[in-house]
Amino acid sequence: MKAAIISLQSTSSKWTRDAMKKYFNEVDDINLKDIEVSLGAKGREILVKGEPLGTYDCIYAKGSFRFAPLLQSLSSMLERHVYMPIRSEAFSIGHDKLLTQLKLQEHKVSMPITYITSTIEAAKKLIEDLNYPIIMKFPHGTQGKGVMYADSFASANSILDALNVLKQPFIIQEYVETGGVDIRAIVVGNKVVASYKRKAKEGEKRANIHAGGHGEPCELDAKSKKIAVNAAEAVGAEICGVDMLEGIKGKPHVIEVNLSPGLQGVTKTTKIDVADKIAKYLYKKTKKVVNTRADKGAKEIIQEVDVEKNGKKEIIINLDFRGERILMPEIATKISKFTDKDEFILEVKEGEIKVKKLDGSG
Ligand SMILES: Nc1ncnc2c1ncn2[C@@H]1O[C@H](COP(=O)(O)OP(=O)(O)O)[C@@H](O)[C@H]1O
Ligand SMILES: [Mg+2]
Repeated sequence: MKAAIISLQSTSSKWTRDAMKKYFNEVDDINLKDIEVSLGAKGREILVKGEPLGTYDCIYAKGSFRFAPLLQSLSSMLERHVYMPIRSEAFSIGHDKLLTQLKLQEHKVSMPITYITSTIEAAKKLIEDLNYPIIMKFPHGTQGKGVMYADSFASANSILDALNVLKQPFIIQEYVETGGVDIRAIVVGNKVVASYKRKAKEGEKRANIHAGGHGEPCELDAKSKKIAVNAAEAVGAEICGVDMLEGIKGKPHVIEVNLSPGLQGVTKTTKIDVADKIAKYLYKKTKKVVNTRADKGAKEIIQEVDVEKNGKKEIIINLDFRGERILMPEIATKISKFTDKDEFILEVKEGEIKVKKLDGSG
């Protein structure tokens, strides 16, 4: 089976590519920056450095939020024919915290109370009635840099003034008191394959490693794992990093789903080979998808044959050679109704093979 990884070729992506090479027969490493999608009256096309994209059984496409429109169009054009672990809509949902919270809410995944207002005036009115502290953040992930903490109405009010000048969209969120700890769970398929806690440095509210936080391995309980898996499903990503905040009481709240989670931090902290888990999953899932498609194909052919109903049908196929032996396609078994209990007569000459069931056998 042939796979491709389309990414910005970070260290994490290179690790994943190398792991995929252990499972797939061939793995192409494509830079997202070399991709161009052309939509025209004559049709649509995906080009890599000006050449049409090859054919694959699996494509793992990912990248930062700046590339979300490209990733989304590319995936929506390919996903019906190629197995892709991240659904096209996931790129707009996952790369926008507002849409993420909306999807999480729809799927009843536990999350902090989140507010969106259309104008600064409406936001100013809203903050009068909130319990402090609160969090305000930009919809796009910035490794903690777009997260603002307001411990009173006065500070929230002044942040809103600054946001107004910047003309930046933002969301307002209930502050979940965690002592500066957040949980990152790596979801692959319907499992959490690795998880760790990130602790903010002294005097810092944001636990991101880029904001000086440090990681510690942590085993999640079944309830938290379920929340992470549900969050991944809600946004449509089979591979992602889910950030959760565990308040003093109750279950953890999901704050972010990262479609391109860094693997260095989690691998170093947990000593789990996450790249290998991802590659193995991609391989197994691709195999399953390819087989289901082949089955479906066979069913479609059989329906066509049924219409003819004259007992015989010529099917043009490529025979599957296993060394010196020939493996017959499934469709031939289905139409002939041969079973492993039957006995057969084989008539062979140059350029022709006939297989007949021996009367009375089976
Ligand atoms: N509602 C919240 N309550 C408490 N802390 C928060 C909240 N939202 C974010 N944080 C802190 O800020 C960090 C970054 O927030 P996040 O929404 O994940 O944005 P980013 O995309 O920048 O990582 C989180 O890891 C957490 O430590
Ligand atoms: Mg985050």
